[in-house]
Amino acid sequence: MAERVLAEVAEGVAALRAAGVTPSLATVLVGDDDASAGYIRIKQRQAAELGFASPHVHLPASASQADLHAVLADFNADAGVHGVLVQHPIPGHLDYDRALQVLDPDKDVDGMHPVNMGRLALGLPGPLPCTPAGIEALLAYHGVPVASREVVVLGRGATLGRPLAMLLAQKRATANAAVTVVHTGVADWPRYTRRAEILVAAAGVPGIVRPEHVRPGAVVVGGGVRYEGRRLLPDVDESCARVAGAITPRVGGVGPTTVAMLFRNALRAARGRS
Ligand SMILES: NC(=O)c1ccc[n+]([C@@H]2O[C@H](COP(=O)([O-])OP(=O)(O)OC[C@H]3O[C@@H](n4cnc5c(N)ncnc54)[C@H](OP(=O)(O)O)[C@@H]3O)[C@@H](O)[C@H]2O)c1
Repeated sequence: MAERVLAEVAEGVAALRAAGVTPSLATVLVGDDDASAGYIRIKQRQAAELGFASPHVHLPASASQADLHAVLADFNADAGVHGVLVQHPIPGHLDYDRALQVLDPDKDVDGMHPVNMGRLALGLPGPLPCTPAGIEALLAYHGVPVASREVVVLGRGATLGRPLAMLLAQKRATANAAVTVVHTGVADWPRYTRRAEILVAAAGVPGIVRPEHVRPGAVVVGGGVRYEGRRLLPDVDESCARVAGAITPRVGGVGPTTVAMLFRNALRAARGRS
């Protein structure tokens, strides 16, 4: 699915270039975290392969909040920059959420700006949060019916559980679900996950979803992960594959679809301004 979306993005970028517009996705890295630098390099390489220009700013770990805001203000003011990506996490003395609020919502390719969350809540057009949008697209691509089915999302976090619940409850052919959200405030959450026709793990607690939490034949989507160093520990225990009707793979699950949605948002931002 991710490959198909990226191929469509490449075509869209080529069409804009042919019309004299060079789509541009700017990236910002703060500090010297090896993993973050690696992720930014991968996204820049992918941006170049898809035909995006990708101006990059690397701020030192000692950068102030005002330094970061100044970089974002420059990109906001630059009509040649259509999307901006701030790699997170950023150093602990900086406030990511505050920086995000400085960014022009129309250039927010992560879809996480409060204005974009508001647009999602109201059903207005705007960049969608990438991981939730990727999950909706993934279900649609694999022909998993969502409309009128019971979806249970384990986790109400701002990047995944909460926006996904809003998205899948929207009035649209690939959504229209009966969505239930469970979290630490619901002590007996397995009562809900066991009746889910589609179960999405979005907790960030390795191995929290086990076969006894899954309704036999259910579709299980593993979104939550925790990194220990470079080791990726998913929420969904691999043994769930024995019970599930369909399940996202441990590696290559919602990560690639998230990245595909990021570039789709960047293309749409470029189209919106051209
Ligand atoms: N694969 C990707 O590309 C990708 C992208 C984005 C996010 N993620 C992953 O998605 C996960 C969620 O991220 P997020 O930022 O949306 O969420 P978050 O802010 O980390 O919140 C986690 C949620 O899970 C719930 N939770 C945690 N432990 C629980 C437990 N033992 N029982 C029941 N509920 C529990 C929490 O409940 P409370 O609200 O009650 O605390 C909270 O709602 C993370 O693992 C993140 O790494 C993956």
